[in-house]
Amino acid sequence: MDDPIVCRCEEVTVAEVIRAIEEGYDTLEELKRHLRVGMGPCQGRTCLPLVARILAGKTGRPLAEVLEEISVRPPLAPAPVELFLGGEG
Ligand code: FES
Repeated sequence: MDDPIVCRCEEVTVAEVIRAIEEGYDTLEELKRHLRVGMGPCQGRTCLPLVARILAGKTGRPLAEVLEEISVRPPLAPAPVELFLGGEG
C-alpha cells in the first residue's frame, strides 16, 4: 500500500496528515478540525495516537507533549439513552 490510511473512520491517509502538517496545521486540534481525524465513531481511539506520532516526527516535538493536546470528552463508550433518563439501562 503506497499511502496507508491512518484514520479508518474518516478515511484519512498518512500522506494527507503529512501534507496538512507541512501546510501549517501543527497541533492535534488543528489536524482534527482540518482533516476530521479523531472525529469519527471511534472518537480517535485508533488514529489519534498514530497522528500524534506523525506530528511529533514531523515537528521534532516530544511525543508526550503532542499527546497532551488530545482532549477527551465523555462519554468514552456508547451508553443507552435510558441511562441519561434515569431508567435502568
Ligand atoms: S479511526 Fe480516526 S476517528 Fe476512528
